Amino acid sequence: MSAQRILVTAALPYANGHLHIGHMVEFIQTDIWCRFQRLLGHNCIFVHADDTHGTATMIRARQEGRPEVEILADMQAAHMADLADFQVEQVHYGSTNSEANRALCHEFWAAFREQGLVAERDVEQLFDPEAGMFLADRFVKGTCPRCGEPDQYGDHCEQCNATYSPSELVNPYSTLTGAKPELRTSKHLFVQIHQLQDFLTEWVDANDHLQDEVANYLKGFFLGEPLKEWDISRPAPYFGFEIPDAPGQFWYVWFDAPIGYVSSTKEWCDKTGEDFDTWWRSPDTRIVHVIGKDIIYFHCLFWPAMLKTAGFRLPERVQIHGMLTVDGAKMSKSRGTFVLARTYLEHLDPAYLRYFYASKLTNTLDDFDLGLEEFVNKINSDLVGKVVNLASRTAKFVKGVGLSAAYPDDGGLFEAAATEGDAIRDAYEGFEYAQAMRRIMALADRANEYVEAEAPWALKKDPEKAEALQDVCTVALNLFRQLVIYLAPVLPRLAAQVGELLGAPIERWDESRTPLVGTPVAKFKHLMQRVDPEKVKAMIEDSREAQAASETAAPTAAADDGAALAAEPIADECTYDDFMKIDLRVARVAKAEHVDGAKKLLKLTLSLGGDETRTVFAGIKSAYQPEQLEGRLVVCVANLAPRKMKFGVSEGMVVAAGPGGQDVFLLSPDSGAVPGQRVH
Ligand code: MSP
Ligand code: ZN
Repeated sequence: MSAQRILVTAALPYANGHLHIGHMVEFIQTDIWCRFQRLLGHNCIFVHADDTHGTATMIRARQEGRPEVEILADMQAAHMADLADFQVEQVHYGSTNSEANRALCHEFWAAFREQGLVAERDVEQLFDPEAGMFLADRFVKGTCPRCGEPDQYGDHCEQCNATYSPSELVNPYSTLTGAKPELRTSKHLFVQIHQLQDFLTEWVDANDHLQDEVANYLKGFFLGEPLKEWDISRPAPYFGFEIPDAPGQFWYVWFDAPIGYVSSTKEWCDKTGEDFDTWWRSPDTRIVHVIGKDIIYFHCLFWPAMLKTAGFRLPERVQIHGMLTVDGAKMSKSRGTFVLARTYLEHLDPAYLRYFYASKLTNTLDDFDLGLEEFVNKINSDLVGKVVNLASRTAKFVKGVGLSAAYPDDGGLFEAAATEGDAIRDAYEGFEYAQAMRRIMALADRANEYVEAEAPWALKKDPEKAEALQDVCTVALNLFRQLVIYLAPVLPRLAAQVGELLGAPIERWDESRTPLVGTPVAKFKHLMQRVDPEKVKAMIEDSREAQAASETAAPTAAADDGAALAAEPIADECTYDDFMKIDLRVARVAKAEHVDGAKKLLKLTLSLGGDETRTVFAGIKSAYQPEQLEGRLVVCVANLAPRKMKFGVSEGMVVAAGPGGQDVFLLSPDSGAVPGQRVH
């Protein structure tokens, strides 16, 4: 088998947020495949970068009052640290906001122009006069033109499902500033992608580029009729690259984002002396993109069109996965299941998640679930109970003695597992990791049966059986090592540790075919700990709190204009004693419920710690869902005289800012505070 050149990418994460365990599905999936290819001896690189441009970055920079590049540098460092700590290994981690990317954007663009694929038209779009920018659909809200429901997004109504353009909204407002947007006309550039329709149809049809369900979806939904032209420019102000032959226009972020795959490779080549054209233009380089099913259109239609036009190599395969859910539901900030990569790492071993995802990932687009209880059980039973256990029950008996000089008769176990290796290899190659893990665990079961039957701990007691003991341990440790080779793409650290334990590093897949004999066995060190369910709980708890903290700290510089103060001037002076009369306490929302017949109120049961509670009716129903509140910390007035209301007696207040209605903002303490603490 001759070594192949393989270039692999995963989608470039947006630079405006931290990585979470949903992203890690893809980055771990990609890393496993690359490590697998390298284990086979191929020259396989994983190239990655941050996706930096667009409105979101611009808005965040305004909010934080610092330049975009500063935010980008911070986020890139954070992303890289998260990936490294999850043992995701890239040869290079670039940025779409780089000179290399700008140069390549110019090259792609020149090809579009030369081939007559660019058209120009005026577009009417809503403009926020206060923010001084055009508004993407998601930044406009207003009353649904069809059913009259207020506060609907710019493109569709969640109440009646109508779709419309933002300019049709009744009483539209900008979600950035609250200002009434104006319709303004600006010049946009469009790519006439239908001119590439035949090429794309052929590409989608060709075998193996895409999973069948994806090819069918694209053919069914898009390629059956002329492809719509692609609006590829955005008027200033926009954080991105200015289009060279259209001053004041910037490339839409989805134009320069995938070019990031190429420019990151370019930077790597410049750094290492590798030949760029060999990686991106040679017909014998395999290019594989791994993405989630939410970004199919960009990768399976636009991107091939761009590559084709600019004369680059097309991907051999776009590999698409489904979305992660946690405990059966979309990741949720209020439930604490929106877990950042860093929060996970603070509590748990990355190997657990790598294995868990591997055990779930298939070659389909099906979503899959991280059930937290299942997670604990699976790791403990598979990795600790079946795999690591093989070594922990045998290595100690041959420490200092080493493996037998000749491989003993094992009844054909090693050989059978070596043959099974072919099926496991094929499963990895086809992104059927779940199947690979099942096969590996079935082999582990057989190895454990062997150890049970031979009972080395019993042999140990009889000095006459020292040789038999060495043989049994030699078999068990070889079966163990074989499994660890198969698991090496998923669990690189375990593979390295086992290399040390058995005096032979794991470097090639084919090492699974030949038993080790006569090597020394080192002192057994813990390879993997059981998952402590308490740590999983703590991770969820932390995620909930991190969320509450970040919600309280989202300043909008645009709103620092003094309007709030003008609307409600500062009250008359009071003494410290006056202030201390009001007993403010930290409380946990133990329960939050709707109140029958009440339009504005939620009924909160606040815990002040111990048995002390307060029932409070709070006018926050338009701003909060009960499930968003349960568990979070708030500040309450604990010594307010009870007040009889229509729906019951209110025994206090929760403190909040804002004019009312949807604009109510509960106060919460920073993490670390506990219910019952006084606020002063
Ligand atoms: N920036 C774009 C991609 C540009 S590629 C030229 C983007 N970024 S993202 O940060 O939103 O997502 C990055 C990848 O993570 C996507 O492929 C997306 O599908 C994947 N995931 C994000 N959340 C996910 C889950 N909950 N589950 C599985 N994958 C998820 O899209
Ligand atoms: Zn509606």
